[in-house]
Amino acid sequence: MTLQTVLTPPTDATPADLITEGAAALDAVSSSARLDAELLLGKATSLSRTALRMSPERRVAADQCAAYRSLLERRRQGEPVAYLLGTQDFWTLTLTVTPAVLVPRPETELVVERALLHLPAASTASALDLATGSGAIALAIAAERPHVAILATDVSVAALDVARGNAARLGLDRVQFRAGSWYDPVGPQRFALIASNPPYVAAGDPNLEPAVLAHEPTIALLADGSGFAALEAIIAGAPAHLQPDGWLVLEHGWQQASRLRNLLELAGFRHVRSHADLAGHDRVTEGQWPAKPE
Ligand SMILES: C[S@@+](CC[C@H](N)C(=O)[O-])C[C@H]1O[C@@H](n2cnc3c(N)ncnc32)[C@H](O)[C@@H]1O
Repeated sequence: MTLQTVLTPPTDATPADLITEGAAALDAVSSSARLDAELLLGKATSLSRTALRMSPERRVAADQCAAYRSLLERRRQGEPVAYLLGTQDFWTLTLTVTPAVLVPRPETELVVERALLHLPAASTASALDLATGSGAIALAIAAERPHVAILATDVSVAALDVARGNAARLGLDRVQFRAGSWYDPVGPQRFALIASNPPYVAAGDPNLEPAVLAHEPTIALLADGSGFAALEAIIAGAPAHLQPDGWLVLEHGWQQASRLRNLLELAGFRHVRSHADLAGHDRVTEGQWPAKPE
């Protein structure tokens, strides 16, 4: 066999041609069609977006064109770009994601921001991330607070495998992971901070995109009780797991803030307030467990 027969011949297609083709193919299904196309071409060619832009005359090999078109088709069918790439950037981290975990969203960075405000830079406190999924919240806190002891839990063993892999790859393996529902795997330990982005969407919610429901884990999205069951379970268990003056920080849906504030106040939390995401919607609500509950 000669070298000529081993190498895949180049096509006439350049990166610019393929990105234009991809952006057109994804236009009807994605609000970021061109970016998606660039990222997927990067995946198929193992080249960065910058490298693709810097070499407009490059001819893309036939097998790479085929791989790209197959990724485009999967994207057209609604698969999240993050699952196709196998990674998602979150906070300062690049996390591995698989269909076993929710793709971490930018608004969840607001949970991290609030958590860090409650954990001073040199803090040696302990923190709990309930429903950790890919490990996003726990690992972002760990990256910023090297002396905080962090426990992260999830009911999904498959999700925890992804989270543990992320912790190891990022050198953040001091984060502990345990499997189980809400506080079951936690024991009697109390924390200075509990953070969570639990499932909070009601079944049948018309705001939930069908492609999200079709591809991301149902257990990560839907909650009973009009979407409040998980949030209520977390609030109910928090007093037994928070230290005096400890904080509970919760992500929730954009229409859930006012009821959530009521639930926290009824449970005895103080300094209850909500925080808006970049779109101006209240998406994170927090409260402090008093040193002397009434
Ligand atoms: C919305 S995802 C959040 C994942 C991650 N924290 C993030 O922000 O990307 C919700 C997570 O809750 C987990 N979960 C669902 N029911 C649970 C339960 N009863 N106990 C613990 N975790 C649960 C799911 O497995 C999923 O990983």
